[in-house]
Amino acid sequence: MRRAFIALLSAGALLLAAPVAVAPPALATIKEAAPGTLKEAAAAKGRVFGTAAAQAHLGESAYASTLDREFNQLTPENEMKWDTTEPSRNSFNFGAADQIVGHAQAQGMKIRGHTLVWHNQLPGWAGGISSRDDLLSAMRNHIAKEAGHFAGKIAYWDVVNEAFQDGSGARRDSVFQRVMGDGYIEEAFRAARTADPAAKLCYNDYNIDGQNAKSNAVYAMVKDFRARGVPIDCVGLQAHLTLGNVPSDMQANMQRFADLGVDVHITELDIRMSTPADGSKLATQANDYRKVVSACLAVSRCTVITVWGITDKYSWIPDVFPGEGAALLFDDNYGKKPAYNASLEALGGTDPGDPGDPGDPGAVTCSYTRTAQWDTGFNGQVTIKAGSSRVSSWTAVLTMGSGQQISGLWNGTPSTSGNVVTVKPVGWNADLAPGASASFGFTVNAPGGNQAPPALTCSSP
Ligand code: XIL
Repeated sequence: MRRAFIALLSAGALLLAAPVAVAPPALATIKEAAPGTLKEAAAAKGRVFGTAAAQAHLGESAYASTLDREFNQLTPENEMKWDTTEPSRNSFNFGAADQIVGHAQAQGMKIRGHTLVWHNQLPGWAGGISSRDDLLSAMRNHIAKEAGHFAGKIAYWDVVNEAFQDGSGARRDSVFQRVMGDGYIEEAFRAARTADPAAKLCYNDYNIDGQNAKSNAVYAMVKDFRARGVPIDCVGLQAHLTLGNVPSDMQANMQRFADLGVDVHITELDIRMSTPADGSKLATQANDYRKVVSACLAVSRCTVITVWGITDKYSWIPDVFPGEGAALLFDDNYGKKPAYNASLEALGGTDPGDPGDPGDPGAVTCSYTRTAQWDTGFNGQVTIKAGSSRVSSWTAVLTMGSGQQISGLWNGTPSTSGNVVTVKPVGWNADLAPGASASFGFTVNAPGGNQAPPALTCSSP
C-alpha cells in the first residue's frame, strides 16, 4: 500500500549509474522468484509463520495489512484467556475472540487457541476455589465450553500454560496445583480432547527453549503422558528471549521433544533489548532471530514459528520489562527491521523491496506515505531502506509544495532552506543493515489545503 504513494525518485541518483553493457539473459540464470513474505517462505518449507494479534488493533490499517500480508497463523493475544471468556462462573463471553477468529478465518490463517488453563489472567472466582472436586468441575466446564465453542476452528490449543517453576523444575504453586495436585494437567488435556478432537493439544511454557531443569521436567511429563496415553500432540516453547542469548542447544532441545513423538512449536518468540535500539543491537537481534528460525528448520517436527506481536509499538515487553523493548520484527512504524530480513532469509525468502543490486552497494531507496490528514494539514512518513549492503547513515530531501510548511518532525534531524528540508538520522536510526529500514514522520501545515506529496529524494550516507 505504501508503495502506491511512491514519491518522485531522484533523477540525480539515476544519473550516477554508469552505463553497462547488457548481456543477453542466459537461461541457466533464470530462477523462480524467492518467496517474498514470511508466510510464503515458511510455507515453502512446510512451516507456518504466525503472530499474536489483538482484536483492538485490527481497525488500524497498517496493523491489519501487515498481519494479513506476512502471517498465516494467528494467536489471540488475550481474547481467549479465562478472565475474558468466563469472567463469572459459567457465564461465557466469546465476543472479542469470535471477531478475531473471524478475521483469521477470512484470511485463511490457522488459529492457535491461547490458553485454557493458566494461573495468570484467571478470574478471581476460579482462583478462590478451595475444594478439589469443585475446581476440577469448574476447569472441566471451562474447557468443555470454551474449546467446545471454537471446535473445528482451532489448529492448536495451548491447553495448559506455564505450570512449571523456573530453576528447579518443580510444579508452579498455582491454585490448580495446590487444590488438585499433579493430576490437573492430564485432566485438562483429556477434557480438551473431548471438547475438540481435531485440535492439536499443546503444553506451553517459557524458559524451556534450551535444556535446563525446567525443560527437563516438561520433557519428563511429556514422556510420561505419551507412555500412558494422555492426549498431548505438541510442546510450545514460548521463546521470550533476551538479546544475544539464544540457547546454543535450542535445536537439540527441540529434537529431544520431537523424538517423543510430539510436534514442537515456537509460540511467543520475541527478543528484547535495552531501549533505545541502535544499529549494533538490531544486528545482534537479526542474528538471534536467524538462529531461532534455523534451529526450527533443522527439526522436522518444528512446524510452527509464532512471534508475540506484529509491531514493537504494541509489544507487551515495555510494560512488563521496563527499559526493554524493540523485540519484534517490525518497528513502531511497521518498517521491516533487520530481524525481519534475517528471518525471511533463514526461511529461504527474499524481500522483493530489496533492490539487491551489487553494482550499487551503498544505495538506499525511500518512499513516502500520508498517515493522517485534516483540512489544514497532514502527517507524512518517509521510510528509507538499505539495499543489499549496510549503510552507516542516510539523507532524505523533501521539497515542500505550495503553501506547505513542516511544523514538527520526529525520528529525524531536519534542516530547512526555503521549501527544501534536508533530514538526517537522529543517531539510533542511522545505521541500517542490508534490507533494513528507518522511518521518520512529520506534520505539515497546509492552510491552503494542499495535500500533495512533497517531492522526495534520498541518498547514503
Ligand atoms: C501477555 C500479553 O501479551 C499482554 O497483553 C497481557 O497483558 C499479559 O499477557 N506468556 C504468555 C502470554 O503465555 O499469554 C503473555 O501475554 C506473555 C507471556
